[in-house]
Amino acid sequence: MTSIQPRPTTNDFGIPVNSDNESLTAGTQGPILLHDHYLIEKLAHFNRERVPERVVHAKGGGAFGELVITGDVSKYTKAKFLQPGKKTESLVRFSTVAGEQGSPDTWRDPRGFAMKFYTEDGNYDLVGNNTPVFFIKDPIKFPDFIHSQKRLPGSGLRDHNMQWDFWTLRPESAHQVTWLMGDRGIPKTWRHMDGFGSHTYQWVNEAGERFWVKYHFKTDQGIEFLTQAEADELAGSDPDHHRADLYNAIERGEFPSWTLKVQIMPVAEAEGYRFNPFDLTKVWSQKDYPLIEVGKWTLDRNPENFFAQIEQASFEPSNVVPGIGFSPDKMLLGRVFSYADAHRYRIGANYSELPVNRPKNEVNSYSKDGAMRYSFDAPSTPVYAPNSFGGPHADPTVAGDEGIWGFDGEAVRAGYIEHPEDGDFTQAGTLVREVLDDGERERLVGNVVGHVLAGVKEPVLSRVFDYWKSVDAELGKKIEEGVRAGQK
Ligand code: HEM
Repeated sequence: MTSIQPRPTTNDFGIPVNSDNESLTAGTQGPILLHDHYLIEKLAHFNRERVPERVVHAKGGGAFGELVITGDVSKYTKAKFLQPGKKTESLVRFSTVAGEQGSPDTWRDPRGFAMKFYTEDGNYDLVGNNTPVFFIKDPIKFPDFIHSQKRLPGSGLRDHNMQWDFWTLRPESAHQVTWLMGDRGIPKTWRHMDGFGSHTYQWVNEAGERFWVKYHFKTDQGIEFLTQAEADELAGSDPDHHRADLYNAIERGEFPSWTLKVQIMPVAEAEGYRFNPFDLTKVWSQKDYPLIEVGKWTLDRNPENFFAQIEQASFEPSNVVPGIGFSPDKMLLGRVFSYADAHRYRIGANYSELPVNRPKNEVNSYSKDGAMRYSFDAPSTPVYAPNSFGGPHADPTVAGDEGIWGFDGEAVRAGYIEHPEDGDFTQAGTLVREVLDDGERERLVGNVVGHVLAGVKEPVLSRVFDYWKSVDAELGKKIEEGVRAGQK
């Protein structure tokens, strides 16, 4: 910490205080007096210093930066911040998923990649991960999935048996689990990983034409990873390794950057595509839909206060701006509800007023009052809509910008419509056989074997072998052999 000019201490209301050394007592050995309100303020405020940690993604870190648009995607979206030459201030928070606030950065886990863009049309939040797919495809499974990755209710311990039980009973997880157990399951630093919007979103252009879109943030630092042994060592010696790396790199003036690219699918092609394009456990082949360059995203400013700017930052997939909308991806639609609800609980009803969450443009909403409200309109501003007195009015020209697609009618509980090459194991098998090289496949086997040996028991164990044989017969055989050898 650098030293600053000394200033007189006050209490929270600006009143000078006379001691941070001694409490007020009745005589030197007497009881502490209740009217030492400064002591009470200090102790009571201290007791309230924490807000609940995020129920998932509790451990993380972040920075500010800028998105500069270098390409031209104006024929796909009218979103103002994506137009050629535009520069937009941004915030990111990187995180692990299952660990608590003090947990090591180098645990094997997907990494959260939550971005906020302070656009002239309000905040756009792209709350992604460092993987293009996810473990499940329906939001109703999310709480069960997370419970299986967290801790046993009795002992409070994490349990690999519970994790593999869930994964093998939900074989749609195979693609994401193959990613997770491979090299990308532990990035070397946050600077050395890609980010993905993961879901399929909708873009709409000025003419009202609609496209499906997937976002990719390609690291300009190159992909690098930690082996399991390196990660285990760092978990003990430097648990905040990733948080420190990002902070220190920015302090040194080494600003990490990513190239933003997108895949675009014309709406009419979705129905006939070989994979269901809205299923979050699948990627779109880049041979079918090549990457199109959009811009450069650079991080160049550290937070000045971790709690105010990172811990209280709130990201929500519901924050989309005109020109960007949702899609029939059920996970996305579930998340559109979930995050704002989480923030109202975790931070409070007026979380959007905190400087880090507040948009840079004017807010003219009809939300009023609530705990800790401090902004307010001129007294003459009507508090209801519609009104006859010049209050804010909704703009019908942005109707439908949050996404339009055909619905097929009745309320049902059903899976996704199967496309010809769908299947729980198809893309996981392609990843193993066509994307990974020999070294990567070998490390994948070693990582799975090590993970499984740490606590997976029958009947889950047999299902683990079947699961991997369904991904790839050869890989599954090696995993079974490795586990059997390790059990001796
Ligand atoms: C955080 C719910 C799936 C990425 C959170 C939080 C909740 C949540 C409640 C904590 C928010 C907070 O307290 O600030 C869900 C639900 C999901 C889901 C219900 C599925 C239906 C996903 C997926 C991704 C993702 C698929 C990535 C593609 C993140 C990230 C954070 C987060 C990056 C941390 C945001 C931050 O840094 O503040 N999620 N999530 N989640 N989620 Fe999800």
